[in-house]
Amino acid sequence: MRILLTGGAGYIGSHVALVLLEAGHDVLVLDDFSNSSREAIERVEELTGRSIDTIECDLADQAASSAALRDEAFDAVIHLAGLKAVGESVAQPSRYYRTNLVSTLNLLDIMAEHGVTKLVFSSSATVYSPAAEGVLNLDESQPSGTGITNPYGWTKAMNEQIIRDVQTGRPELEAVLLRYFNPVGAHPSGRIGEDPAGIPNNLMPFVTQVAIGRRDHLAVFGDQYPTHDGTGVRDYIHVMDLAEGHLAALDGLRPGVEAYNLGTGDGQSVLDIVKAFSAASGQEVRYEVVAPRPGDVARAVADPAKANRELGWRATRTIEDACRDSWAWQSQNPNGYAGR
Ligand code: WQD
Repeated sequence: MRILLTGGAGYIGSHVALVLLEAGHDVLVLDDFSNSSREAIERVEELTGRSIDTIECDLADQAASSAALRDEAFDAVIHLAGLKAVGESVAQPSRYYRTNLVSTLNLLDIMAEHGVTKLVFSSSATVYSPAAEGVLNLDESQPSGTGITNPYGWTKAMNEQIIRDVQTGRPELEAVLLRYFNPVGAHPSGRIGEDPAGIPNNLMPFVTQVAIGRRDHLAVFGDQYPTHDGTGVRDYIHVMDLAEGHLAALDGLRPGVEAYNLGTGDGQSVLDIVKAFSAASGQEVRYEVVAPRPGDVARAVADPAKANRELGWRATRTIEDACRDSWAWQSQNPNGYAGR
């Protein structure tokens, strides 16, 4: 298939592009490069020996995106483009709602104009409502779309609803909503990886930047949670496993809308990650415990059984693999991609 991949130059998008090309698909990337790099695309081309067609365009600009895609043919869409910084979304809610919602609306219109029915959407574990007491691992039947603590998370939940409503009006639409847990790691070559602009918000890029000496120490947000060591527990999934989940989702598309968790089913604490990363990299990661971060929960771990059962997908890489690959990326590219 020829697949339109929005946000294909970003951290997750570049790994998805690589996996699609290696599976024999053709890839058309649409990206505005506001938080991504052309170099990521070039490196995926190098790694795969295949070329990627690229359109620079802001999907939230209806006239521009519809014109840019007018003469393009594609069989399916993987929609990753969007803003994704939780803290920034609290400070700039209008920008987040406008960008993330309007992009999806425009894309759904463009798909209808082109008669394209296949859609894989990048959603997030953040759409789940706060877990009831006693619920350890979240499955897709858990309530979602209430009690979300930031506009970024709301845009993911609202996009899920928009896709469901559009499918009701266009029953031939085949959509999958992929609820990512915490993506980490990099391609094992170390050629592509996560290159956040500014101070990293997420744990793994912060840890790798401490290890390479760009940051003095990690602030651990709270050590009094009811977890095995008091620090927050998350389900860290290797980005290559996550990327392969998109391929499985494409193959599993059928009319309707289905949500799937992409996670490992295992929980790791902040201190588990610090230890695993130090062991994998041979670098000390200095840290200091500080106050909890507002909005954080003690634990968020997937039940990935549905994706295994219905898509035949499961995460196979370990947290040690993820730490080794993150370090390969960070140590070979201490300042990320050039020109960032
Ligand atoms: C993981 C753990 C922190 C940084 C968020 C979004 C989610 C998704 C991924 C988008 C927590 C702790 C972190 C640090 C720390 N979205 N931590 N010191 O909060 O699970 O999920 O990012 O892109 O929608 O909500 O991920 O990596 O920020 O935090 O102690 O400097 O690490 O408290 O326990 P989170 P995270």
